[in-house]
Amino acid sequence: MLNVSEGAAPSGVPVTGPFLRAAWGEDGPRAPIWIMRQAGRYLPEYRALKARSNFLEMVRTPELAAEITLQPIRRFPLDAAIIFSDIMTPLEALGVDIAFTPGPHVAEPLRSAAQIEALRAPEAEIAPYVGEALRLVRAELPAQTGLIGFAGAPLTLAAYLIEGSGSKEYEHFRAFLRAQPAALHVLLEKLTTVTIAYLKMQIGAGAQAVQLFDSWAGLHDLPTYRTFGIPYYKRILEALDGLGAARIFFALGASHLSAAIAELPCEVVGVDWRTDLHVARAAFGPRALQGNLDTAVLYADAPALEREAHNVLEAGRGGAHIFNLGHGIWPDVSPDAVARLIDAVHAYDRTA
Ligand code: CP3
Repeated sequence: MLNVSEGAAPSGVPVTGPFLRAAWGEDGPRAPIWIMRQAGRYLPEYRALKARSNFLEMVRTPELAAEITLQPIRRFPLDAAIIFSDIMTPLEALGVDIAFTPGPHVAEPLRSAAQIEALRAPEAEIAPYVGEALRLVRAELPAQTGLIGFAGAPLTLAAYLIEGSGSKEYEHFRAFLRAQPAALHVLLEKLTTVTIAYLKMQIGAGAQAVQLFDSWAGLHDLPTYRTFGIPYYKRILEALDGLGAARIFFALGASHLSAAIAELPCEVVGVDWRTDLHVARAAFGPRALQGNLDTAVLYADAPALEREAHNVLEAGRGGAHIFNLGHGIWPDVSPDAVARLIDAVHAYDRTA
């Protein structure tokens, strides 16, 4: 059943379970499912741990990070686990001081070329505790369940580093991009180097797929994205080629950027809820698609939830499909709705 002509795993890489089979291109009878931000605040068991710890301590303690990664796997029949961490955690290696409140907050936002030049080159392994957590998770995870590592895309990391925190308009970042493009390239270069080392470390520690999150791609027009995003993402994804991990690229609010995203060397393209999967299939050709139920549907009643899930599954036909939400799950979603969604996805026969 594995499609060996397009996007097949390098020989010798074990492709076990529905998630990895779909990631490597199998257009199988059932769609596997995992959920962005599946380890987190909507789970009472996460909130119980959070009451006794803080986010960074949880991320930096391998036993805690592994336990939180496994919480949704114990509760639901999900097809993949994603390591509990954050896109900002590897940046500590550059000497950046980041707090979570709960979104990332940079103590000294980068607003000058001198600050960017002064970022130190990482000397030791980047966030080795993430590798340790991955090893602990893999040892506990059923063989059929995939393990996903991740990193933030450099342009999204740069948005947080320059703005200083999450923002509606990212006006400082967008102004910096126009006023100081050379300094931004220096920053993106440093972030690319860190990201390659960080993702290679995760793959070495057991990540069978890695997702690059470009959560703020939607801020940019196509020429800007081709200048400041795509070349760096190509380098990251190319550096991971042949290591045995499926490469997932996810950009939010990026349907206007799909011509450029289609050039990226990756096995899976994540699609947000605004883009019809038929349209994404046409844009991203033989790659597996991942997505894209509107998270808000998890607040709807059971019949509407099932109907909307079926619509996504229908639209995902015609190639490999990994079911997911169109973006992360929200803290007040009911775990019961998640259970219903997973059952609906697993019950759906893609060949019928
Ligand atoms: O289950 C998983 O998906 C793994 C864990 C994960 C977290 N952050 C945990 C987290 C992942 C994959 C991320 C990635 C991340 N972090 C992204 C990319 C994905 C996206 O949503 O677009 C971004 C943009 C961030 C930055 C970030 N970190 C924000 C905006 C926030 C706060 C608001 C929010 O949505 O949670 C965080 C903090 C954060 N990261 C929390 C968790 C569980 C909440 C911390 C807490 O419990 O107080």
